[in-house]
Amino acid sequence: MRALLKMKSQLIGMFVLVLVTIGPVRVRSLNPSLNDDVLGLIVFKADILDPKGKLVSWNEDDDSPCNWVGIKCNPRSNRVSELNLDGFSLSGRMGRGLLQLQFLRKLSLARNNLTGSISSSIARVDNLRVLDLSDNSLSGAIPEEFFRQCGSLRVISLAKNKFSGKISDSLSSCSTLASVNLSSNQFSGSLPFGIWSLNGLRSLDLSDNSLVGELPEVIQGLNNLRAINLSKNRFSGMVPNGIGSCLLLRSIDLSENLFSGSLPDTLRKLSLCNYLNLCKNSFAGEVPDSIGEMKSLEILDLSANGFSGQLPSSIGNLQSLKALNLSANRFTGSLPGSMADCANLVALDLSRNSLTGDLPTWIFKSELQEVSISKNELGGSVSSHLSSSLGSSPGRLEILDLSHNAFSGGIASSLGVLSRLQFLNLSKNFLVGPIPATIGELKTLDVLDLSNNRLNGSIPLEIGGVVSLYELRLDKNFISGKIPASIENCSSLTTFIVSHNRLSGLIPAAIAQLTNLRNVDLSFNNLSGGLPRQLANLPHLLSFNISHNNLQGELPAGGFFNTISPFSVTGNPSLCGSVANKSCPTVLPKPIVLNPNSSSDSTSGSLPPNLRHKRIILSVSALIAIGAAAVIIIGVISITVLNLHVRSSTSRSAAALAFSAGDDFSHSPTTDANSGKLVMFSGDPDFSTGAHALLNKDCELGRGGFGAVYQTVIRDGHAVAIKKLTVSSLVKSQDDFEREVKKLGKVRHPNLVALEGYYWTPSLQLLIYEFISGGNLYKHLHEGVGGNFLSWNERFNIILGTAKSLAYLHQLNIIHYNIKSSNVLIDSTGEPKVGDFGLARLLPMLDRYVLSSKIQSALGYMAPEFSCRTVKITEKCDVYGFGVLVLEVVTGKRPVEYMEDDVVVLCDMVRGALEEGRVEECVDERLRGNFPAEEAIPVMKLALICTSQVPSNRPDMAEVVNILELIICPSEGQEELE
Ligand SMILES: *[C@@H]1O[C@H](CO)[C@@H](O)[C@H](O)[C@H]1NC(C)=O
Ligand SMILES: *[C@@H]1O[C@H](CO)[C@@H](O)[C@H](O)[C@H]1NC(C)=O
Ligand SMILES: *[C@@H]1O[C@H](CO)[C@@H](O)[C@H](O)[C@H]1NC(C)=O
Repeated sequence: MRALLKMKSQLIGMFVLVLVTIGPVRVRSLNPSLNDDVLGLIVFKADILDPKGKLVSWNEDDDSPCNWVGIKCNPRSNRVSELNLDGFSLSGRMGRGLLQLQFLRKLSLARNNLTGSISSSIARVDNLRVLDLSDNSLSGAIPEEFFRQCGSLRVISLAKNKFSGKISDSLSSCSTLASVNLSSNQFSGSLPFGIWSLNGLRSLDLSDNSLVGELPEVIQGLNNLRAINLSKNRFSGMVPNGIGSCLLLRSIDLSENLFSGSLPDTLRKLSLCNYLNLCKNSFAGEVPDSIGEMKSLEILDLSANGFSGQLPSSIGNLQSLKALNLSANRFTGSLPGSMADCANLVALDLSRNSLTGDLPTWIFKSELQEVSISKNELGGSVSSHLSSSLGSSPGRLEILDLSHNAFSGGIASSLGVLSRLQFLNLSKNFLVGPIPATIGELKTLDVLDLSNNRLNGSIPLEIGGVVSLYELRLDKNFISGKIPASIENCSSLTTFIVSHNRLSGLIPAAIAQLTNLRNVDLSFNNLSGGLPRQLANLPHLLSFNISHNNLQGELPAGGFFNTISPFSVTGNPSLCGSVANKSCPTVLPKPIVLNPNSSSDSTSGSLPPNLRHKRIILSVSALIAIGAAAVIIIGVISITVLNLHVRSSTSRSAAALAFSAGDDFSHSPTTDANSGKLVMFSGDPDFSTGAHALLNKDCELGRGGFGAVYQTVIRDGHAVAIKKLTVSSLVKSQDDFEREVKKLGKVRHPNLVALEGYYWTPSLQLLIYEFISGGNLYKHLHEGVGGNFLSWNERFNIILGTAKSLAYLHQLNIIHYNIKSSNVLIDSTGEPKVGDFGLARLLPMLDRYVLSSKIQSALGYMAPEFSCRTVKITEKCDVYGFGVLVLEVVTGKRPVEYMEDDVVVLCDMVRGALEEGRVEECVDERLRGNFPAEEAIPVMKLALICTSQVPSNRPDMAEVVNILELIICPSEGQEELE
């Protein structure tokens, strides 16, 4: 038995092979005893994919397929008569296996993922009655010969595939067809003429293709037709009178085509028709009065055509009518009173016509649930009709759109009776008076639009009763008073628009409870007071316009408000904060221009001794606000003076010793320099030249807030950089100094300049650093080193290295305090090395004024909290400086640039560009076309987050490193592939 089975499988294997290569006819003679049905089905199964294993019961070793899933056999012949594999998730291409099923009557493969064309015949159509291939991904044209032998085909559906080409003429030869569904494909061209004489046809659906052509005048051949759907094609011409002879028609859908002309009068004969959809065509003329004879009509859609004239009063005869859509035509005149007789009408859309007259009262009394009459010319008082027609019966209306008409008068308090109302739009009318308190009874209302009227009074407290409210628009009225705190009860509110009114008072903090809010517009009112801080907690805000009010104080910080557009806050003279472009009195503005080199000033005598440094504070916004050229000139001068000072001191060629001239410490005693203590952490104090001789002006590398830096060589050619601290009065006792410096000496990181030793006397302190040859980042970026400029990869590497060094320092609880491009040195391999870290530890106390004046000498890098007494300075000030540095590296611009009559603050400029969607333009011009936007843009966004005003909103440096590594990773992968 086993051997026999094995032989059989081998035979089938051979059969499959032969079938695929030669074709079915020759094969059958190979083994006439084998059941053709089993073979055919197994071959079919072998050709397709069955990811869900729906066909596991199809076993090639069975003698009969009649018990297999999806198979029905004729009980007498035991041959397969039906194959029904709907929704089996089968995919792949159909082979020719099904050709073997000689007795197949019904083939249904709907709702699968089958692909390929049906050009090679898939099955014997000659015996088929039902062919359903709908809802697959089949494509290509239907071969002309496909329907040649469709002698008994009654139902064919190829709907929802990707078939294309013309509909084959051979279809007309299938005279037994009752149902044809070729919808939702890409068929094109005109229809085979023979299709109009298939007189058994009951249903024809050709919708959603690209078919063209006109309907023939004579279609009486289709006298069994019940439903015709030609929608969404490009059929044109008139609807023929002949349509009236298809007396059994129940459903006609010609919507979304190019049909034109007027409606044939013969439509009157279609008294069984309950669905007539002609929307979105080019029909014109009047709607014939005879339409009233289509007594079965339930749905009539003539919208978006060019119909004109009065609405036929015979509409009142359409007693079954449930939905009437005549919108977007050119109807004129008033609504016929007879329409009140359409007792079953549920939905009425007459919007976008030129209808005139009063609002008919039957609208409120009938069964109507949805009424739209917007964009017409109806007038009169809505109120009086509402009150007179409703009495106390609760209307059924759920949707009422009377917007964009000429209605006048007030809004009656009887409105509250419409207790099922979900949508009420009365906007763009001439309504006056207050919003009635009864509005609070509309518990199911979710959209209320009363905008563009002349309403006055205040927003009723009862608005809080409209608990489902989702969208509230009251803009462009004369509403006064306060925004009621009861709005808090409308917890679903997402859109709250009350702009262009006369609202006054405070913005209630209750608004911050409405956590679904997305769009808020309070602009052009008289609102005053401060903004509730809690607003920053609204998680979904997309817009919050408070412009043109009298709001004051600081904008909430955090959340949406970190990125709010300046346009949303303008026109509030007392509002402050960086977005409002106006400094807040409690928080000094950033950035602050400081003069680190200024000497003590007798006028600051009242300050504690360690604060006796003249601070010049010029805020950028103040510069702009004052706008006086003089002030700007002073600003420019102060910067220029700073630069000159540095340059002159480096270029002076006097061979004088460090302490002899032009130095801040020219008064310092120099004698004890020789009796000092030198410590090299490497344990090699071969510092034979002596401190004095080292500090030759010619060797000066530069100056910072803490002092000048000189280059020299010790021992056998070992180059070091020596920093002479100029803050001696601030330095702690020798013990403290040594302890702190030793700690700093232990800090080693590839991206930090190593501290190698120190020298101490009571009046002179030197720090000895490793010498980095490549110059500092500032020079690389703004002055160019050797005519080269940094490539994108070099810049990214510098950003990442700097971030790593700061993350490392923070891990050791060391705050840098002084991050800026001139403190980032570049070594010969292009690696960044951050210097000058942790020097604040040498100060007797971490005083923010000392920090800001002595250390944060660099314009634009200083975190805003330095100027605010109440905010604790944390390592987040480094994150701020780092953010500014990143922007500087990416844009190649200084943190603050003084233009001819403008001061540009880099962060603000990039933030503005980001909001306007052109942040890419900020990238350094020298990199144009040579940088990956997918890296540069996220890097800039990250930098903007780092420069958040609120320290807690800035990420940790460790997080920054992680993010940077994520940003670089994808392209690293690509490089490896190349
Ligand atoms: C068709 O395939 C897609 C993915 O390839 C799958 O999501 C979908 O469910 C499949 N449809 C059917 C009817 O199996
Ligand atoms: C109310 O109607 C006006 C005018 O027809 C329209 O512009 C506005 O979008 C509608 N409001 C809502 C909320 O749909
Ligand atoms: C708002 O809700 C509270 C608590 O559910 C309720 O007491 C108050 O009456 C409501 N306000 C309005 C105006 O409906």
